[in-house]
Amino acid sequence: MSAQRQEMVRRFAAPDIAARKGGVPVVCLTAYTAPMAELLDEHCDLLLVGDSVGMVVHGLPNTVGVTLEMMILHGQAVMRTAKRAMVVVDMPFGSYEGAPEVAYANAARVMKETGAQAIKVESGPTVVETIDYLVKRGIPVMGHVGLRPQAVHVDGGFKAKGKGGDERARILAEAKATAEAGAFAVVVEGVAEGLAREITEAITVPTIGIGASAGCDGQILVTDDMLGLFDWTPKFVRRYGDLRGEISKAVAGYADDVRARRFPGPAEIYFAKAG
Ligand code: KIV
Repeated sequence: MSAQRQEMVRRFAAPDIAARKGGVPVVCLTAYTAPMAELLDEHCDLLLVGDSVGMVVHGLPNTVGVTLEMMILHGQAVMRTAKRAMVVVDMPFGSYEGAPEVAYANAARVMKETGAQAIKVESGPTVVETIDYLVKRGIPVMGHVGLRPQAVHVDGGFKAKGKGGDERARILAEAKATAEAGAFAVVVEGVAEGLAREITEAITVPTIGIGASAGCDGQILVTDDMLGLFDWTPKFVRRYGDLRGEISKAVAGYADDVRARRFPGPAEIYFAKAG
């Protein structure tokens, strides 16, 4: 068996994640680069090459400006080092909301050029038909309901969803339709706890929560948020590190040493061979 084939066998895939419904919670994080994916791989079941890369890495104000080429480049980087976790690549805004045939061509390109095992789409009402179309043609799909970051201009900002009334019923219906269309898991973002639990009970595939309480079958966070790389994070993020402080301290130390000619020292330079 070739090394590549062996790798495929031991890596988590869509059916493994789907089978975790109601079991041990599914551990997911975002990954955009090869070194970070290598670090996360042993701890996570699923790595999402999220279109949040636009905001986190490229400094965009939202995810609307993210392109297919950006997603492919970051997907390739993650796939080079993630060996065990399932890798899912986000379809960017404008690449899947129109005709299902166009969505298929773009999703197939992402899968061929990155080697990732699945794609994710934000499942508004019209996207359900596309999920069905993609799954029937061999593309595993993860859905995404509740706060949909790509709808930022329609919503007028990033706002928690489904606190009551029609919106709550609409999100529940979208989650059910997404699962019925064949999604292997559904990200539930920025919804009140009661709705997250209701969705989790109503659908047969795992719900992966972000800002959606512990009432989901798994959790995902933006890695850079939970590592403390930013000076602000949303309410639902728990900071498990202080990378911002650590990086600032390390860079200040380097700058001081360079200015004082303490770096490089004898241990960090090459010497000519004696004789
Ligand atoms: O793009 C992303 O990082 C996401 C997660 C927040 C679920 O969609």
